[in-house]
Amino acid sequence: MPNSKEEISIFKPYLTVKSDYVGGKPKPATAPNQKIYKLSSNENLLGSSPKAIAVIREKLLSLNEYPSPTDARLCEALATFYKGELPATQFMGANSGSELLEMIARAFLDVDLECIISSPTFMPYCLFAEKQGAKVVDVPLKGDQFDLDVEGILAAITPRTRLLFLTTPNNPTGSYLPAATMKKLIEALPSHVVTVVDEVYYQFTDAADYSTAMPFVKAGKRVIAINSFSKAYGLAGLRVGYAYSTPELISYVKQLHRPFLLNSLSLAAAIAALEDVDFITQTVELIQTEKWFLYPQLDELKIKYWPTQGNFFLMRPPVSPPVFEAKMLEQGVMVRPVENFGAKGCIRITIGTREANEALVRGLRTVYTTL
Ligand SMILES: Cc1ncc(COP(=O)(O)O)c(C=O)c1O
Repeated sequence: MPNSKEEISIFKPYLTVKSDYVGGKPKPATAPNQKIYKLSSNENLLGSSPKAIAVIREKLLSLNEYPSPTDARLCEALATFYKGELPATQFMGANSGSELLEMIARAFLDVDLECIISSPTFMPYCLFAEKQGAKVVDVPLKGDQFDLDVEGILAAITPRTRLLFLTTPNNPTGSYLPAATMKKLIEALPSHVVTVVDEVYYQFTDAADYSTAMPFVKAGKRVIAINSFSKAYGLAGLRVGYAYSTPELISYVKQLHRPFLLNSLSLAAAIAALEDVDFITQTVELIQTEKWFLYPQLDELKIKYWPTQGNFFLMRPPVSPPVFEAKMLEQGVMVRPVENFGAKGCIRITIGTREANEALVRGLRTVYTTL
């Protein structure tokens, strides 16, 4: 034991650093007759998968029993959902896409190691990497269309790089990575770099050259795909997500699973939601219809916005994002400033139901005419 009076710190320095990432705000308490449309967290405004809700109701009567100790049943359901493209052993479940991202950071990152992100993007990647003591290298998206800087990413790779985060569709820009670009990048990566393809909004895409990570995983590339039940399935409050990858990478990340990781409601609801084709079809059709309802109205108001592949869109208001957020809230609509995602001067807005979108357009019209 050292003989000095100097105290030995028990704290890991990187766990004492406060992150500036704050998640979306909940709905504020309102006057009884005031309706608030929450378009700030990319939730499903149609609600949740009815099949998931029905099975949760059933399971409520057996909460005294432990759930299955593993995610095996969910993985079987995922293998069926993906029509046997991968065996069940190449899937894993967890308590949300965020938990999977955090597990991947724990599995591959450490002090002196690095990961690459491309801002503006989903900032918890940085939070999870920094909590492992790793360095985050940002290779920003390029130009007005937020294109991935493939050459910049390849140039940023060092022997210490372990993870590359690709988000497609990307939050908050709504942009996506064309299949050919993804292929070019993944094929050029050295084997010590694992690509995390975050595809939690994949259901909403309509671009002909959109690709999930599936072909790359099937080809045995070091790629892990992240998915969530929070968005299209409308189960954000339940916290369930899944990943798929090569047998090598899935069994490695699964080392971080503890027994009974998923609770019985999550397990049952996720499995039921995967079978709820009607709900997903209805949700996706709504977003497709409503984005084309919104675009002309945004054009009419001369709003700078970016067409989207997600269930949200990015726009740049003529005043600072927090001021705009407050003005829209006065109109009963919650929107999300995304400067802390790296999108300077921008706001992200979820596409809702027709009723919510009409309230949004009314709110925008009022705010823009009074600015
Ligand atoms: C791009 C992206 N990835 C992952 C997540 C995490 O989703 P969840 O933790 O709700 O599954 C989100 C949530 O907003 C997201 O936008």
